This record gives sequence, C-alpha cells and structure tokens, in this order.
Amino acid sequence: MRVIVGITGASGVIYGIRLIEELNKNNIETHVIISDVACDIIEYETSYTIDYIKEISSYTYNENDLFAIINSGSFKVDATVIIPCSMKTLSAIANGYGDNAITRACDVTLKERRTLIISPRETPLRTIHLENMTNLSREGAIILPAMPGFYHKPESIEEQVDFIIGKILDILDINNNLFTKWKQ
Ligand SMILES: Cc1cc2nc3c(=O)[nH]c(=O)nc-3n(C[C@H](O)[C@H](O)[C@H](O)COP(=O)(O)O)c2cc1C
Repeated sequence: MRVIVGITGASGVIYGIRLIEELNKNNIETHVIISDVACDIIEYETSYTIDYIKEISSYTYNENDLFAIINSGSFKVDATVIIPCSMKTLSAIANGYGDNAITRACDVTLKERRTLIISPRETPLRTIHLENMTNLSREGAIILPAMPGFYHKPESIEEQVDFIIGKILDILDINNNLFTKWKQ
C-alpha cells in the first residue's frame, strides 16, 4: 500500500507526524510533503525534528518540487491524506489551484478518482471554509476534521490525537487499536 501524506501550516502538526509513525509501523510506503510553514510549526509546537520525520517516511519532498513523481497521475497511490490541512491549502485544493506539491498531489488524487482524506483545522469557520469543504465532499473527498471525540475517555493529549489517527486508519482499512470503539 502506498499513501501520500501532506502536513500543512495549521495547528496540530502532531497529527501528521503520528499518522506517518503508524503507517511506518504497518510497513506502508509513505510519500510525505511538509509545507514550509508546517516545518516552522513542527519546531514551534512539538519536540519532533524534520530529520526524524524524514527517517520514518519512505520518501519526502519539498513543497516546491512540482517535478516530484507524486504530482503525476501515472504514479498510482492508494490514498492521499492532508493532516492538518490549513484553510489556505483547503481553498487551493477545492479550487484546483495546484501551485505546490501538496495541492497538486490532491488535484491528481481527485482527478484520478482516488481516496482523498482532508483533516481541516481552524475554528471558528468562515462561510467560504465551509463551502470549500462542501465542494470537496461533493467531489468524493472525505472531510475528517481534527475533532477528537471524548466517549473513549482520553486521559492524555496523545490519546486524543490517536483517536483521529485511528479514524483515518479505519478508512484506509488498516487494523488498529488506537481508540476504544464504541460499545454499549
Ligand atoms: C503557529 C501557526 C498556527 C497556525 N494555525 C493555523 C490553523 O490552525 N489553521 C489555518 O488554517 N491556518 C493556520 N495558520 C496560518 C497558515 O499557516 C497560513 O495560512 C499559511 O499560509 C498556510 O500555508 P500552507 O497551507 O501552505 O502550509 C497558522 C500559522 C501559524 C504561524
């Protein structure tokens, strides 16, 4: 299985890092693009380094690398996940504005009718943010907000983060025990 992961300049970059860790653990080939702002936010919000993310990713790309293999429809991937997704990148994806390796990879994913999961992070939301999400959802993208539940009674931030990662792995059909599934 081959998955593209994009980390953009929104709060919650830890979600993207945890997703890559889990994909790596499951021996899934990852193609990772971290936007320039996301690199700064990783340094600001977490104790992780870009070198560590490169180590756990199969391949990494610069956001300006439009020659990257992931920007072509002939490169087959099972899914693309943008997590966290800034409102700027959301807007570019929704409007087909593929000016960097992240937005272009999403453009390709949609035009090839492959799985696209977008995990937007912003609050509150403007009407245009909501419209962009609606348009992407209508086109088949899965909008999975970084919006953890509390019914599994998380005891740490890590458990809240893993709730979202578990939801994404469920969609990708990857077995996981990252959160306790609801049962009465
Ligand atoms: C510390 C920090 C946190 C930010 N958090 C968010 C956020 O949660 N959501 C968002 O849409 N933009 C956020 N931004 C603004 C984006 O980084 C900005 O719009 C940027 O142009 C996004 O570029 P990118 O999508 O190419 O990474 C944040 C910026 C900084 C510096």
